[in-house]
Amino acid sequence: MNAPDPDPATSPGDRKKAPARRPLFEALPGWVGVSTRLVHGARRPDLNAGAVVAPIYQTTTFHYPADYSEARDTGSVYLYTRVDNPTREVAEELIRGLEGGERARLYGSGMGAISAALLSLLRPGEEVVALDTLYGGTLDLLGWMGPQFGIPVRWVSESHAREPESLVTPSTRLVFLESPTNPVLHVHDIQRWAEAAHRVGALLLVDNTFATPVNQRPLALGADLVLHSATKALGGHADLLAGAAVGADDLLRRIDPHDTLGSVLDPFAAFLLARGLRTLGLRVARQNENGRRVAEAVSGHRALERVHYPGLNDPEEEAIALRQMTGRGGMVALDLKGGLPVARRFLRALRLVHVASSLGSVESLASIPGETSHRHHSAEELARRGISPGLVRLSLGIEDPEDLVRDLTEALDHAT
Ligand SMILES: Cc1ncc(COP(=O)(O)O)c(C=O)c1O
Repeated sequence: MNAPDPDPATSPGDRKKAPARRPLFEALPGWVGVSTRLVHGARRPDLNAGAVVAPIYQTTTFHYPADYSEARDTGSVYLYTRVDNPTREVAEELIRGLEGGERARLYGSGMGAISAALLSLLRPGEEVVALDTLYGGTLDLLGWMGPQFGIPVRWVSESHAREPESLVTPSTRLVFLESPTNPVLHVHDIQRWAEAAHRVGALLLVDNTFATPVNQRPLALGADLVLHSATKALGGHADLLAGAAVGADDLLRRIDPHDTLGSVLDPFAAFLLARGLRTLGLRVARQNENGRRVAEAVSGHRALERVHYPGLNDPEEEAIALRQMTGRGGMVALDLKGGLPVARRFLRALRLVHVASSLGSVESLASIPGETSHRHHSAEELARRGISPGLVRLSLGIEDPEDLVRDLTEALDHAT
């Protein structure tokens, strides 16, 4: 997959005045692919004494020249790490190039990015259309923002989500999607949702955490803003919290315009994120393979009611996945017969796969969404969203596929 080479990014600087700063990073040829871009996409030797690996600027503040206002336009003058920091810019540039946006901003967590976007882009009375199968934290945030700020939220169930044209109305200002969804991995037609949103002048925001930009690029499909929990596959090693927002320059300038919401990424976490990003292409390729191998191997197992995997058992979703994804990712969810006690027996029998929440890391993880990501939701709400008490979500890592298949099938055998 070759990413087009959008305009070089500029540093955030004072976004109120939108100064035209010179490009911070060396431009790459337009023909480079994803992995090449991840390795070479944030070169800035002039600032970093020629260092191949950009250093960690672990400083809160920077000496700046007396003529700051003129000097900042050279692209090498910084003010204060909550506003801008060269280490954070490296990771921002890699993610910007990966998603094909004009600008990327990093936050202290995925929820930091999502809350900054929603709090900035919505005003009282402006309607949001959102899937009711989003990540639990996003559901909680929108559920809180609705009454708190007078923002009507129109929740869309999976059974209605295939007709976006009938759900987005002239009063809709913002649509929030995930595809595949968490945890039951439904696939939604991003292009069709973008067209429906744009017809009424609404913005489409897509949380691309599950798919990763290696497998799916929502901006190219018409989305206005891509959000990430970079804590997950982008970081990839379960050792940092981070969030990202990517999109057009003018839209990014509307999000937390004065850097006062305070959810910023620390320079050390930004360094770890940039380091993790360099291997994203390799890791996601293996996770795609592990997801497919595990979904195939466990399908039909006597312990299972159902296997959830993007496009599996649903021709319409399969067709959408084929159109908009280049790989299905490493997420699989298993619906165990016998509910919670059997799911727990399965988890206890795992020898390699960690029992832990989160996803997208090099090590495989298994968790029960009803007790982790969706723990604030009632039994009825969970049932409505297809999250049964016996649902176990798997995030497959980069281990050898046959080892994962063996560990998981042995634990399923034990659970029955
Ligand atoms: C799809 C999705 N979006 C957002 C988040 C929130 O990210 P963070 O935990 O980095 O705040 C998560 C966390 O699990 C997630 O799965």
